[in-house]
Amino acid sequence: MPKGTYYFTKGFLWGTATAAQQVEGRNDNNTWAAWEAQEGRIQGGDRAGLACDWWGGRWREDFDRASTAGQNAHRLSIEWSRIQPAPDMWDEEALDRYRQMLIGLQERKMTPMVTLHHFSEPIWVADIGGWENPAIIDLFGGFVRKSVQALMPYCRLWVPINEPNVFALSAYVAGLFPPGKKDLKLALMVLRHLVGAHARAYHVIHELQPEARVGTSIHYRGFTPATWLGVDRLAANAYNRVFNDLFPQAVTDGQFDLPFKKDQIPEAAGTQDFLGINYYTSSHVRFDLLAPKDLFAHLSYPEGAALSETGFIANTPQGMIDAVLWGEQFGAPMIITENGVDDSDDVLRPQYLLEHLHALWRVMNDNHPVEGYFHWTLVDNFEWERGWSQRFGLWGLDLETQARVRRPSADLYAEICRTNGISADMVEKYAPQSMPNLFP
Ligand code: BGC
Repeated sequence: MPKGTYYFTKGFLWGTATAAQQVEGRNDNNTWAAWEAQEGRIQGGDRAGLACDWWGGRWREDFDRASTAGQNAHRLSIEWSRIQPAPDMWDEEALDRYRQMLIGLQERKMTPMVTLHHFSEPIWVADIGGWENPAIIDLFGGFVRKSVQALMPYCRLWVPINEPNVFALSAYVAGLFPPGKKDLKLALMVLRHLVGAHARAYHVIHELQPEARVGTSIHYRGFTPATWLGVDRLAANAYNRVFNDLFPQAVTDGQFDLPFKKDQIPEAAGTQDFLGINYYTSSHVRFDLLAPKDLFAHLSYPEGAALSETGFIANTPQGMIDAVLWGEQFGAPMIITENGVDDSDDVLRPQYLLEHLHALWRVMNDNHPVEGYFHWTLVDNFEWERGWSQRFGLWGLDLETQARVRRPSADLYAEICRTNGISADMVEKYAPQSMPNLFP
């Protein structure tokens, strides 16, 4: 019987990632609270509500969970609408709560990474046009300055904008996130403003804290042509270019090149100290003339890949290797800032986790260094337009009682974090079906 262990590099960051709107609860002053209140926007009419009640202080018990489970890092986001509830108003008390959270991480010897925008804005920002209005770059810069001034003694890893590609697509093409528009041209304009806001944040943060490391958190999705046909290859290529490459390219060399138009955002060049990759799944792309809404393509999951509970994610661990190889072209150190699966019964998660980490280990051992891994997520949270229908937590959440229910994957991930590796024993215990692949 094989008994090996695949060890990760010394000092590797092991954590989970969370986002304010998804865990904090008790917010009625941002775009998501307003969106959730509209009929038909969220599956089952769900609302974030109390969420995991971090605003009520339950972050303490959840940080305890994470730290006793061997995690040495945590990625969280701070909420613009709490810190700047009105254009001319700063809420020092809200900033102090975030300060306490970051001190809480320090006390538990966990490295914090802070995201400054994770899909939500104050309502007053949306009222003046939100991301469609170029004025947002100055406004965001002001919020970043205020927040970083207050929080920089406790944090040096910053992500100005989470998944600008998913945000622009979901809010301005698919109409699933507020403001619910369906306009590709507008989405590309918004993406341009997101690049500008990232660049502004980068410069503000470095001015305040020269030793800071400011990165991105890009949702990388594997897109492979469904067949050998040229049109499928063209379609997959267009998806790669626009969804995966556009933003990280712009913050690397200032080029903002669309398939049919070259453009530049010079102030964005060189504004990425690390590339954060959120990797969940990969798709096959088939050209479809009848699908202009979906950029003339039909996406599907590779045949035979195990699907998550709601069919949202396919288990495609090879994509983790592809993601890192892809990320290398941008020349910045890499961190996996999200990866996980919806699975309330924890049927697929142990296998998904082990196979993705094994893929990560393999690519790292081929001399493609990655600094850390943040699992999505610690405790079940509010999953945007899918409401509470999807459960991504290592711990489950009972919404009625706020009780946390440990899933087997919480123990598995704790063993991984403590060992700094994945062993044959773990695979045998938690996902024996992966033995032939992982320990042949
Ligand atoms: C987002 C998270 C989200 C996760 C799972 C990512 O795209 O950054 O906020 O919860 O996917 O849906």
